[in-house]
Amino acid sequence: MILENKVAVIYGAGGGIGGAVARAFAREGAKVFLTGRHLAAVEAVANDIVSAGGFAEAAEVDALDENTIDKHLQAVVGKAGRVNVSFNAVGIPDSKLLGVPMVELELEQFLLPLVSYTTSYFLTARLAARRMVPNKSGVIMTVSALHSRTGIPFVGGYGPAQAAKEALTRHLSAELAPHGIRVVGLRPQAMLETRTIKNAFEPRAKATGMTWEQWQQLLASRTHGRRLMTLEEMANVAAFVASDKASGMTGTTVNLTMGSLDD
Ligand SMILES: NC(=O)c1ccc[n+]([C@@H]2O[C@H](COP(=O)([O-])OP(=O)(O)OC[C@H]3O[C@@H](n4cnc5c(N)ncnc54)[C@H](OP(=O)(O)O)[C@@H]3O)[C@@H](O)[C@H]2O)c1
Repeated sequence: MILENKVAVIYGAGGGIGGAVARAFAREGAKVFLTGRHLAAVEAVANDIVSAGGFAEAAEVDALDENTIDKHLQAVVGKAGRVNVSFNAVGIPDSKLLGVPMVELELEQFLLPLVSYTTSYFLTARLAARRMVPNKSGVIMTVSALHSRTGIPFVGGYGPAQAAKEALTRHLSAELAPHGIRVVGLRPQAMLETRTIKNAFEPRAKATGMTWEQWQQLLASRTHGRRLMTLEEMANVAAFVASDKASGMTGTTVNLTMGSLDD
């Protein structure tokens, strides 16, 4: 098990990506402290992990609130002695933003994803780093999307927000790697099991009359293998990156777009 003796905190652990990463980390032997805005979804993931013989604890933490994040990390260190891995999988609700042409988008709507994603990633990374620096070890991770690197219509500030997260990954690493802390992002292609992809499909469907099947085919056709990644495949990479086996990897975002996006 590649994450044995590791203590991981996951933000947005009740979501598709956060839940899958939590399960994979626990399977690989990590103690996982799961957090989210609403406790019920996070508890469901924690219960699954505990039933399978792993260690998981759930807590309600708003990953945009500095005080709450800090208090939770303090509690984790109190219980487990340290934080080895911080994973920010928060997804800001965007149903009101997607599908709106830029020329019609209000400034507030444009800024919402930019401010929310960068605030959450900055706060969770910085507060974890403060606990990691004294130990001279740790891994800070997050997730972005291919909108960071390619122009996609009708996604408002979501694309720029993903680009900002990837930039923050590089800059955090430049400061933290000398302290033994790695900072690595994951940029997955769409995973059909998640509600995010269904939600992203709705505005497209309205605009173009595309069916769910056509949407899946369109996304898959952009990959080299003509198929989309599963949550489990993405989470397996996350576990590897979080482990000491990836000790040579920092300041980068792993391209998991299966060929949709060239490096
Ligand atoms: N799914 C994909 O295929 C895919 C591919 C590439 C990139 N991404 C990106 O990866 C991120 C996560 O995606 P996902 O599919 O896992 O989304 P998701 O299923 O909607 O999960 C997002 C999670 O974040 C939580 N959350 C939102 N605001 C929060 C806050 N302030 N504090 C704590 N938790 C908060 C949500 O909790 P509530 O439900 O309680 O609000 C939810 O559990 C998104 O940015 C998404 O765009 C997804």
